[in-house]
Amino acid sequence: MPMELTQNRIKKIWLPRDELPQLPINVGGPQFANSPTVIVMVGLPARGKTYISKKLTRYLNWSGVPTKVFNVGEYRREAVKDFSSHDFFRSDNKEAMKIRRHCALAALADVKSYLTKEGGQIAVFDATNTTRERRSIVVDFAKENEFKVFFIESVCDDPAVVASNVLEVKLSSPDYKGCTSNEALEDFMKRINCYKNSYEPLDPDQHDRDLSMIIVIDVGRRFLVNRVQDHIQSKIVYYLMNIHVQPRCIYLCRAGESESNLKEKIGGDSGLSHRGKKFAVALKKYVEDQNLKELKVWTSQLKRTIQTAEALKMPYEQWKALNELDAGVCEEKTYEEIKELYPEEYALRAQDKYHYRYPSGESYQDLVQRLEPVIMELERQGNVLVICHQAVMRCLLSYFLDKPADEMPYLKCPLHSMLKLTPFAYGCHVEIVPFNVDAVNTHRDRIIEDCKKGPNPLMRRNSVTPLASPEPTKKARINSFEEFAACSSHGCASQEPPSGQGMSQQEI
Ligand code: SIN
Repeated sequence: MPMELTQNRIKKIWLPRDELPQLPINVGGPQFANSPTVIVMVGLPARGKTYISKKLTRYLNWSGVPTKVFNVGEYRREAVKDFSSHDFFRSDNKEAMKIRRHCALAALADVKSYLTKEGGQIAVFDATNTTRERRSIVVDFAKENEFKVFFIESVCDDPAVVASNVLEVKLSSPDYKGCTSNEALEDFMKRINCYKNSYEPLDPDQHDRDLSMIIVIDVGRRFLVNRVQDHIQSKIVYYLMNIHVQPRCIYLCRAGESESNLKEKIGGDSGLSHRGKKFAVALKKYVEDQNLKELKVWTSQLKRTIQTAEALKMPYEQWKALNELDAGVCEEKTYEEIKELYPEEYALRAQDKYHYRYPSGESYQDLVQRLEPVIMELERQGNVLVICHQAVMRCLLSYFLDKPADEMPYLKCPLHSMLKLTPFAYGCHVEIVPFNVDAVNTHRDRIIEDCKKGPNPLMRRNSVTPLASPEPTKKARINSFEEFAACSSHGCASQEPPSGQGMSQQEI
């Protein structure tokens, strides 16, 4: 007998008719086909483990896979408020070894809670994990809880790379508060040596031949990949093989103001307005002033971005993936017309703009999927100028700035302004460059009342979209060491999740 279906009105996806609406998604965790994964970082200090952890987490969250980093160093800082010196990391420092083990177990307890109770799909266990003994604890923990394990080891012996990493991120660590740079540098190098004595790298040929892993050699010069188990692991491998750490800038702007903008119509494929053409000329001057050795220019396949790029008088590449969000039946209509023609659609969109899919069109969530190849190629490139559209720019910006999905559709990306993104250490510096060319304002703020009212959308109960890369756990995990005396060797009892953590025009 065919099953009766009903449609979720926000996402326009089909559901069984008896499905209960609005069931909390994290009761018992989402029912994914794949079991959750623990990513285990491996490597000496200052090999970029935290950089990889944070960047990968940002990417996975952006692409819809709930992911969180558990940094054991942060647990240790909570447990040992006054870090004195590298002596803490000596393998013959019995007391410290006990504390370090407890910190690792506390982090694993939180990993378990995140993956089983909080809707997490991937946990990144960011620690050195340089000994087989420590890795076997994690493997056993994962086995007990039916989590998959994927190791990411970063191996690099180039002293220049290690030194630059130490200078960039380690000297500013809370561990060295009040120290001079030289004192911090000297102590950190000794800390690395403490780990070197007992380091047992992953051995994919013999001892670790059955483990799933990628070994990143010399910051991506070479990779060794072993036993990739599933789609998500291959996605991670693909991502890690595309990123680089060379200095560069990414420039994001929208096409110049279009004729449709002037008429307050969304979507469509109109050409530039008079002011839009003036912006294109101003953009040429801006690009020249940046005096970049090499700059790639990308546009969508819509007329207004191509006209904007033409003014630059330099080669550019057109991407269909950069086309504006498809508003389906609402294309080339004003918001007033949409409200009148499709009042229910209008209300549903205000309720959940990220998930809302236009009839016969797209949602922001769809757009993120469409933009994944663009992000991957951006990661590969040096300086790039992307001339795109409001919704597209919001999606790209969310990736670089790690913005939550529910904020994405409300990011401010005005016409005739440039956002210059400069990646640094664990983040991205943003410079907003306004151009002195007037344009209509296409931004619409979120109206909280609209989010609450409107027709019942019928949410699907097993689908989640992370709302941000969650902050690494910051609450004190180690209150007393007695607390851990009860811990068995793999005693990672689950603990409570950390607490605390006017309409204008034409936007899509
Ligand atoms: C740390 O305590 O800073 C790092 C702990 C580790 O993973 O070895």
